[in-house]
Amino acid sequence: MLIVDACILVYVDVDVCVAVLLAVSVSAFVEELDDSFIETRTADDIWLIKFYAPWCSFCKQLDPVWHQVGSELKSLGSPVNVGKSDATASTALAREFRVRGYPAILMWKKGVMYNYSGPRTKDGILDFAHRVGGPLVRSLSSLKLFQHAVSRHDIMVIYVGATSSLKGNFTSAAEELIVYTYFFSASRDVLPKVVSLPSLPAVVLLKDGTFHTYNEEVDGDLKSWINRERFPNFLKIDSYTLYAMGETGKLVLVALVKRGLCEKSQRVKHLVEKVATEHRETYSRSFYFGFMEDSDYIKGLVMDDVIVPSFIVVNLSNDGYFLPPVVTETELHLLDFLDGVLNGSIQAQGGNDITQRIRRLIFDAKTTLQLIQPKVREAPLLACLLAGFLVSLTALFCYLCLRKRPAVYDDDDDNDQDGVLLASSVQRRKKQTDKKSD
Ligand SMILES: *[C@@H]1O[C@H](CO)[C@@H](O)[C@H](O)[C@H]1NC(C)=O
Ligand SMILES: *[C@@H]1O[C@H](CO)[C@@H](O)[C@H](O)[C@H]1NC(C)=O
Repeated sequence: MLIVDACILVYVDVDVCVAVLLAVSVSAFVEELDDSFIETRTADDIWLIKFYAPWCSFCKQLDPVWHQVGSELKSLGSPVNVGKSDATASTALAREFRVRGYPAILMWKKGVMYNYSGPRTKDGILDFAHRVGGPLVRSLSSLKLFQHAVSRHDIMVIYVGATSSLKGNFTSAAEELIVYTYFFSASRDVLPKVVSLPSLPAVVLLKDGTFHTYNEEVDGDLKSWINRERFPNFLKIDSYTLYAMGETGKLVLVALVKRGLCEKSQRVKHLVEKVATEHRETYSRSFYFGFMEDSDYIKGLVMDDVIVPSFIVVNLSNDGYFLPPVVTETELHLLDFLDGVLNGSIQAQGGNDITQRIRRLIFDAKTTLQLIQPKVREAPLLACLLAGFLVSLTALFCYLCLRKRPAVYDDDDDNDQDGVLLASSVQRRKKQTDKKSD
């Protein structure tokens, strides 16, 4: 409304009016929401909302992406509205959405909140908006639609058959897991003949160019099975993905490679891909496979520098990791390594017991101090304050540990996400907080 008024006021000067419209159109894609939103929204609205705090630097970094997301959804005519809200000012709204850290990205659809935890990129967020903003289960009513979907998605979970109690389980799995993956339904004749279905109804998972039919006896609960299998067997991993993979309960064999893939990195990556593909039957129940070009997350986990290129197996359920006992150059070495991890002959390192957590906190503090060292000369007071903050955080942590109440993460989660600590440690903290609230 304000925009239109402003425009009418300067209507005499067309140039100014155009300029105003242009300036306004940049921000008009994203609406600023406050507590009154709780009253004004209607049941059919779909909103994608970024909750931020004025002092949070990660939130500021997200601003340009958020504008692009808003403008793209608008230009596509998407039903998804894009908003942002200062969670420190609109506290009732933030409380309703259970915002615990910044920035938080959530979708509100038919009164249900969906949390986005993927990479904070335009593509990642847009995909989330399309997926969660659209139908819960997408019907593939023709071969053409099916083929189109296959060409666009790495992973497809498809329900085949008429209404049944399996369909009920499928829908309830979709309600929870739509934040991660797409859900489809199709009739038998839409699926290729090679997909053998012993009986109907059935749930089929398509990935890595092959298909898996759900079998309750072997695979257990449907929702857990989909959650476990929702990543490709071999993939490029960033720290967000690795963190998310923790929830599948599988171990992850990671090839740490150099960005741009020098020849040696290329070899290491191919070795992992080969083992992932050729030994899928043997290992895919226990392992995911992938490569990472950024080793900061792993450095934080190992609490040391890491060799690149190299191999590491991580257990994200407990922040443990395994390193190959010998120089790994051949497929056989790598298979021996995987077997050693599975049969327990290779010792797990790291973990998330109290001593490891204290070590990790000290490591994070040290890394942070190294990061801010160049700034000491420019802003000695700020640096001292930061150092003091970290020391008191450590002291508080140790105190709470000794009292056998390692709950400090919950309380500090909101304060220390201001880009002060490394992204990796923030994520780890977030993970522990999430686990606790499960
Ligand atoms: C649906 O889920 C329930 C509970 O997890 C399970 O007992 C039941 O067997 C499932 N039904 C089918 C048809 O898979
Ligand atoms: C990974 O961590 C989980 C949770 O602590 C544990 O149960 C499992 O045995 C670990 N896996 C391996 C291979 O050590």
